[in-house]
Amino acid sequence: MEAQTFRKFRDIVYAHSGISLGDGKEALVSARVGKRLRALNISDHKGYLKYLEQDGSGEEIVQLLDAISTNVTHFFREPVHFDFVRDCMAKWLGAGQTRFRFWSAACSTGEEPYSLAITLREALGNRQADVKILATDISTRVLNSARAGIFELDKLAKVPPALRDRYFERPDDGRANNRAVRADLRRMIVFQRLNLANPPFPMRGPLDAVFCRNVMIYFDNRVRAALLAEIVRLLKPGGYLFVGHAESLTGMMADLKSVKPSIYVKNR
Ligand SMILES: C[S@@+](CC[C@H](N)C(=O)[O-])C[C@H]1O[C@@H](n2cnc3c(N)ncnc32)[C@H](O)[C@@H]1O
Repeated sequence: MEAQTFRKFRDIVYAHSGISLGDGKEALVSARVGKRLRALNISDHKGYLKYLEQDGSGEEIVQLLDAISTNVTHFFREPVHFDFVRDCMAKWLGAGQTRFRFWSAACSTGEEPYSLAITLREALGNRQADVKILATDISTRVLNSARAGIFELDKLAKVPPALRDRYFERPDDGRANNRAVRADLRRMIVFQRLNLANPPFPMRGPLDAVFCRNVMIYFDNRVRAALLAEIVRLLKPGGYLFVGHAESLTGMMADLKSVKPSIYVKNR
């Protein structure tokens, strides 16, 4: 890919998603854009850029972002976070709280919000409570997959067997190698498309906790700071923010205090 073409893709991707594609990402962009070229039967990158610019529907930019974004995730990723939520729930339930709101801000194919839903259900036991998880992502492809809630058995390797039996079932299509999330767990989650680089967000809060993990690494400091300000606005005082272990909020922690590595609390 020519340097100038790469710069154009980089600018388009940044403007629509906040994803910063640094120098040295030419090969990655070329490979991922290649998928769109093949799908559209377009022979070169410049032709595709033209197609993108002329697409009045905005649909192709969604497809491009789908192709560019990295969606790696798995169930109970960074288990310390889920243990922490379990302990918080015990504390909050003990204090008489009955309404809980959570946000999985870059939910990818759903493993993160479903792991959270399982954790919350386990913490609740037989108690009734009003619990909702908002799960968002910029990619419509991963959101569709997350909504379907069907996973191959090997994707469930990190789910303890007892929880797997409790919260997953054979899907209607009868495929022996797949498991579907049970409907009652799925009902706890609302999936929606949201661009984290485009605040302010339509939610009001207050939220008990926000999972914003392994996505800020793709943003520059400007986008990161604006996103953090929105998360702080939405969190309740005493609410928690979970980030990926590789992500540091150093220098951007106004109104947040570090509790443990990658876990922050909003000041009361
Ligand atoms: C590596 S996955 C992280 C998934 C999950 N949070 C985890 O930690 O396992 C990053 C996700 O961020 C999403 N993403 C990237 N840029 C985004 C943006 N501007 N707004 C919302 N989601 C975005 C991608 O589509 C992808 O699904």
